[in-house]
Amino acid sequence: MPVTNVYTTIAPVNIAIIKYWGKKDTKLHIPLNSSLSFTLSMNDLKSKTSVVASTEFEQSRLILNGVSEEFENNKRIQNVLQLIQQHATAQWYTEAKKNNTVDQYKLLIVSENNFPTAAGLASSASGYCCLVYALAQLYQVEKGTDLSTIMRLGSGSACRSLYGGFVAWEMGTDHASSNAVQVAPESHWSTIQILIAVASADKKAVSSTSGMQDSVNTSEKLKVRASEIVPKRLEQMRLAILNKDFATMADLAMKDSDNFHECCADTKPPIYYMNETSHLVVRIVNAYNKVKGTIQGGYTFDAGPNAVLFFENQDTMKEFLAILLHIIPRSDKQTDAEYFPKYNLFVTLDLKEQHKQLVQQVEKELNLESTEENKGKLRFILHTTVGSGPQVLDEKESLITNMDILQRK
Ligand code: PMV
Repeated sequence: MPVTNVYTTIAPVNIAIIKYWGKKDTKLHIPLNSSLSFTLSMNDLKSKTSVVASTEFEQSRLILNGVSEEFENNKRIQNVLQLIQQHATAQWYTEAKKNNTVDQYKLLIVSENNFPTAAGLASSASGYCCLVYALAQLYQVEKGTDLSTIMRLGSGSACRSLYGGFVAWEMGTDHASSNAVQVAPESHWSTIQILIAVASADKKAVSSTSGMQDSVNTSEKLKVRASEIVPKRLEQMRLAILNKDFATMADLAMKDSDNFHECCADTKPPIYYMNETSHLVVRIVNAYNKVKGTIQGGYTFDAGPNAVLFFENQDTMKEFLAILLHIIPRSDKQTDAEYFPKYNLFVTLDLKEQHKQLVQQVEKELNLESTEENKGKLRFILHTTVGSGPQVLDEKESLITNMDILQRK
């Protein structure tokens, strides 16, 4: 039976430190402003996708985290597929086209994230990046095709996951010019450490797609943000990254996150993605920086309550971790390793003792009477670093087995 090889890819999550919010062109996903992100290491967070085409399947199917999702009527997927097919050079496809049998080929796409979907951890970014990367293998997309522009049609922020390290999405003016470019590879500044403090793993109330267009239509602040604030800030950010100037980079990222959430609050009806725990984490970061006398920690929040915290190196990350674990303790129902999976790697008796004084100073700065009431306010804390772009995996890593191919009619 005519069946192609199975292709499997993995793709990373990216976290914007200059946010994208709002489209100028909702069809082509041309954003109101350029944006810039870190790519997170796939050792900790990733999407994985396997694809295969066969004439034996009755219909094309997409299975995401074990659940069958809409395929034929999913406009984003259809747009992506159409563009991939325009650039296809795979023999099976070109022959099928010649023989007018393209429609007989149906796809099976199986995809998994190893983190909670839609929890504000940008699963759509890694998901669409991974899907396009896998389809590009299946269809053998011609060399020189800018896959970031195709990923952008899946989900805007997905285009930034195409590269490792520090990546800008240049807003551009049309399909070809609205693409991702690498500002610096992960090796340029590999000491950066990231903590993700998960305040909720639930699905968000207002999707970024509808939230951002409500902001475009109703927020005056967003107009100023896109036309005046971001263009300047993006250039400053680019320089801060190239110069490895942590304090400037973190300062700009925190300002940008604050400004993005102000625009959400300025939207009619107002959108609030951050919650009480998010604001507590912001206060802890500010208190830490104040006690240290310079900016040694930064935060950024996407369209959800989870905090992405970043530090210049392991020493400052560990200092902050000692503070965070003390001020927002795990719930009594959790173990240390459930709360912070890398507990045994980073938290030793030493760490608590070593930073005892600093923790006390931050606690004083926050004017906290007790940390008891904060118990369990965070669901869990993840640790990661800046990492590389998507990869093609070996056949034996596939999410699709031969049995699947035989049985999935
Ligand atoms: O690509 P989308 O539609 O999921 O939008 C993402 C928007 C933010 O995550 C809030 C910001 C960004 O630049 O990633």
